[in-house]
Amino acid sequence: MTCRISVLGVGYLGATHAACMAELGHEVMGVDTDPAKLSKLAAGEVPFYEPELSEILQKNISAGRLTFTSSYDDAAAFADVHFIAVGTPQKTGELAADLTYVDSVIDNLVPRLRKPTTIFGKSTVPVGTAERLGIKARELAEHGHIPEVAWNPEFLREGYAVKDTLQPDRLVVGVDKNTPGRAIEVAKRVYSQLIKDGVPFVETDLATAELVKTSANAFLATKISFINAMAEICEVSGADVTELADAIGYDTRIGRRFLNAGIGFGGGCLPKDIRAFMARAGELGVDQALTFLREVDNINMRRRTGTVDKVRTLLGGSLVGAKIAVLGAAFKPESDDVRDSPALNIAGQAQLQGATVTVYDPKAMENSRRIYPTLIYASSVEKACEQADAIMVLTEWREFNELEPSKISKLVRKKIIVDGRNCLDAENWIDHGWYYYGPGRSLSGPIDA
Ligand code: UDX
Repeated sequence: MTCRISVLGVGYLGATHAACMAELGHEVMGVDTDPAKLSKLAAGEVPFYEPELSEILQKNISAGRLTFTSSYDDAAAFADVHFIAVGTPQKTGELAADLTYVDSVIDNLVPRLRKPTTIFGKSTVPVGTAERLGIKARELAEHGHIPEVAWNPEFLREGYAVKDTLQPDRLVVGVDKNTPGRAIEVAKRVYSQLIKDGVPFVETDLATAELVKTSANAFLATKISFINAMAEICEVSGADVTELADAIGYDTRIGRRFLNAGIGFGGGCLPKDIRAFMARAGELGVDQALTFLREVDNINMRRRTGTVDKVRTLLGGSLVGAKIAVLGAAFKPESDDVRDSPALNIAGQAQLQGATVTVYDPKAMENSRRIYPTLIYASSVEKACEQADAIMVLTEWREFNELEPSKISKLVRKKIIVDGRNCLDAENWIDHGWYYYGPGRSLSGPIDA
């Protein structure tokens, strides 16, 4: 059951969705206003790092199932099913989400439609947006072709984007219950293979579909901040947060995932999504329902300042003149994304306090240089660590987990290691004479190392 699909916006989410829909056998057109992005994708190149994506992109372009265009006329003529996958960034100077791009898709697409179509929103939007866009689409429709607007939120994680799209935990489709249409039937056709594979398919209304996404992200952020709050308690009481997380995680009601204490969450989704959620609750007059998310945000941001404070204390109360090696810049491993990266934030703060900070990341060097041009960038772990007074591991790339303390010992000025992601073998480092600090853990070692 092949569908003709357009994906409007081919950034991170859209490029992945377009390639994966083609992989499912559909004919897909990716649409964007950025000519540089389009020509890269059309040549089979992924403009960011995402495992497995370039293979399926190239395979489906060669098979003739996937094309790219900047023309809304082409997209409107080609597709029966449209997916909105544009960004919803945080508004400048406000907590709320900027919906300019989402609105502009409807403004540009709807007047061009000449046949029955279904538009599925995938972007993360404040609750109420889909209903508003449906009304707008009815106003803008010409020639009697009113598209149905439904919502089909995306839950993909960077680094696992292909897997999360082709083997998701669930599919959620929200429709306007007041104007019944064919969206559920269309979604079932688009995702027939996944449904056959046993992926749960949740049918709901528009508002619930929008809220499933924002509340899932809010829950995940809360889980991380919860364990980071526990880390603060562990640290002053001599307990170990990693053992605590293991122990509470055995309770299946709690679960071990997303209980890794460290320097906290970052990236293009969780921080901005919880803020937009709070802003929307305020607009709806129920801001107190989400006041706790402000604390979730505060705990998270405190991890960044707290880690800088810790390294400053370890270096005798001042960072002036200190040489710090920062290993990891991406907001998480298997990604080159540095948007709101806790690692780069910490590197930047340390530099502002007078340290000379040298950064190394296996994939995110180019992106880091662009937003933090004043940091020093080294081409390897070894070069970054030369003459360092402290090493900070801030993204848990496998390359860092496997470092040999004996080899690194020969390079540095002081043997102090800050394990910002609790990803290292602490005892191994301590055994090699290092002072080890991991958030929420009472392990250490000789401070005069
Ligand atoms: C997230 C959601 O997981 C995904 O479902 C949604 O669609 C988009 O936002 P992503 O931003 O790719 O995905 O990253 P995620 O894997 O959720 O990690 C977010 C941040 O939390 C990272 O900075 C990560 O390092 C941090 N994190 C994660 C922790 O600090 N501790 C954990 O236990 C887990």
